[in-house]
Amino acid sequence: MIVRSTADGVEVHAPAKLNLYLEILGRRSDGYHDLESLMVTVDLFDRLTFADNDSGTITLTCDDPTLPTGPENLVVKAAEALRRATGCQRGATIHLEKTIPAQAGLAGGSSDAAATLVALDRLWKLDTRPGELDALAGTVGSDVAFFRHGPSAVCRGRGEEVEPFPLSGPLTFVLVCPKFGVGTADVYRRLTPPEKPRQIGPFLEALASGNTATIGKHLFNRLQPIAETLCPALQEVEHALASVGSILDGHLMSGSGSSYFGLASSPDAARDAAAILETLELGRVRVVTSSP
Ligand code: C5P
Repeated sequence: MIVRSTADGVEVHAPAKLNLYLEILGRRSDGYHDLESLMVTVDLFDRLTFADNDSGTITLTCDDPTLPTGPENLVVKAAEALRRATGCQRGATIHLEKTIPAQAGLAGGSSDAAATLVALDRLWKLDTRPGELDALAGTVGSDVAFFRHGPSAVCRGRGEEVEPFPLSGPLTFVLVCPKFGVGTADVYRRLTPPEKPRQIGPFLEALASGNTATIGKHLFNRLQPIAETLCPALQEVEHALASVGSILDGHLMSGSGSSYFGLASSPDAARDAAAILETLELGRVRVVTSSP
């Protein structure tokens, strides 16, 4: 997350995330699932601007007319949660320029919410304790806290327990975002947690090696087969990435879908794969790099 103060307030570039590893450990009594996931932020950003006022209300505008801007938007939820927790009486106008697609497994909404907590805490001069901001983030959504601790971390619990895990070097991906999204709750509803969950250790060892061929062999997402059964059009995307497998070191669905990424050994390899994938018209294709 890139945060800067401007003449008008605060501006944030809120990154997308990819899950390079995602295992489900079990279902919880609160209806959520305990998971273990390695997430990295990449250089695909929403842009948010925040301006302070004394209206006592939060006003959100967005350049994407299909997105709701009312209390159901995670940005508004985060702002209201911060006001409630701190007793702050200030208001704000927030503008969101959306680039990260929704329902894509890239946690764009969660990143926007994390940006909101950080920006309004600065704008309203609240000086909220980091632990309190993390706790608030967890109440807004399972992935929100990660964005305060990126660029790469192991996430546990619902996703809100974040342990930073630095990459040994930058990773480059080709990212395919289909034109359609997948509902996270729909995927989780169809999931039967594994009797013997995988251990994350071998994946983390591979990641620490920095060798993309080794990392590629260890990419894993428990939700992928479920999403592909729920939404068979995803199988086409998977097959497309498999078809450029000789250029890539591995590929995977991110989060609960609908995006897939291929891990490349170099930016050139990622661009070569992107050029081929673009001709298949499966959706938007981009080359992205993990955040430093
Ligand atoms: O926390 P968030 O709103 O992102 O979660 C969306 C939905 O995904 C939840 O309502 C729940 O159905 C499912 N989920 C889950 N276990 C998690 C995270 C999300 O079951 N750890």
